[in-house]
Amino acid sequence: MADQTFQTLGEFLIEKQDDFKYSSGELSRLLSAIRLASKVVNREVNKAGIAEIIGQAGMENIQGEQQQKLDVLANDIFIEALSQREVVCGIASEENDDYIEIISKENAHLSKYVVLMDPLDGSSNIDVNVSVGTIFSVYRRVSEPGTPVELRDFLQKGVNQVAAGYVVYGSSTMIVYSTGNGVNGFTLDPSIGTYYLSHPNMMFSKSGKIYSINEGNYAKFPKGVKEYLKYCQEEEGDRPYTSRYIGSLVSDFHRNMIKGGIYIYPSTSQSPKGKLRLLYECNPMAYLTEQAGGKCSDGFQRIMEIEPTELHQRVPFFCGSSDMVEKAEEFMRNA
Ligand code: AHG
Ligand code: MN
Ligand code: MN
Ligand code: MN
Repeated sequence: MADQTFQTLGEFLIEKQDDFKYSSGELSRLLSAIRLASKVVNREVNKAGIAEIIGQAGMENIQGEQQQKLDVLANDIFIEALSQREVVCGIASEENDDYIEIISKENAHLSKYVVLMDPLDGSSNIDVNVSVGTIFSVYRRVSEPGTPVELRDFLQKGVNQVAAGYVVYGSSTMIVYSTGNGVNGFTLDPSIGTYYLSHPNMMFSKSGKIYSINEGNYAKFPKGVKEYLKYCQEEEGDRPYTSRYIGSLVSDFHRNMIKGGIYIYPSTSQSPKGKLRLLYECNPMAYLTEQAGGKCSDGFQRIMEIEPTELHQRVPFFCGSSDMVEKAEEFMRNA
């Protein structure tokens, strides 16, 4: 460790605690619980190929998706860590129909925070050893402290987030998060189970050369998206751009933030609201994007200003380097 100069995530959380808007240490404890759960999920993801935890769990979630065993396991691990440590008063998850109320051992609803999460993002990549992730979003509750948490505590606009982040279980495991003072990335040293600050102050470049979209759905895309794709592929100036699509939002986002690019999951003729979920996929990614100098919209409107109406609501998603998102929006407006 003598040559290791990185700050650990634990040290960083302590140092930054005073920067938080509401500094009681509660948000640091919440992030520590996420840090712990991510290490447990990382262990399970790493041994997925040999431990009989790949494959379907035999159940469907509320959005009609087949739950994978790791979807269920990751969900349980994060809920356990957050509820045991009493750092939230409620949790909403992709894998649960309704939100969960967390009551402390003193039978009170002590915490002022709620978490919304996608415990395992990119489920379809588990069985083929491709990177998956976890996404989380944190809000202060709006209902009376000490009372049971309510649906309106979860249905808040993205602009109200106090923290958001993701874990990417990739060739390295990283946690990337923001509490409103920029975005920082920490890489796990698996031999000692410690995250180190490896990517301080992450930023989207103003423009980039990567576009990420599931082009297999091309025939079902709106006209504006089809025309923007044609623009990406034209030979002019710095174009054609490079196409990269993993099929795990976290991994596609992570690459684009580091290299510069745009990610699009548009509406399709079959799914007019797109596929991605506003509250635990798009809003946290939008928060990180804006903290990193990028832009996120549904093609017309800022993602974080959309008024949520239901927990599992879907929304079209355009996200990444600001010049590229603005160009795509121009095509949407003029289509
Ligand atoms: P999840 O695995 O949490 O259900 O999310 C799947 C999402 C997202 O990770 C990814 O970007 C997108 O679905 C991929 O969808 P397509 O397979 O339709 O491209
Ligand atoms: Mn899913
Ligand atoms: Mn997901
Ligand atoms: Mn998921």
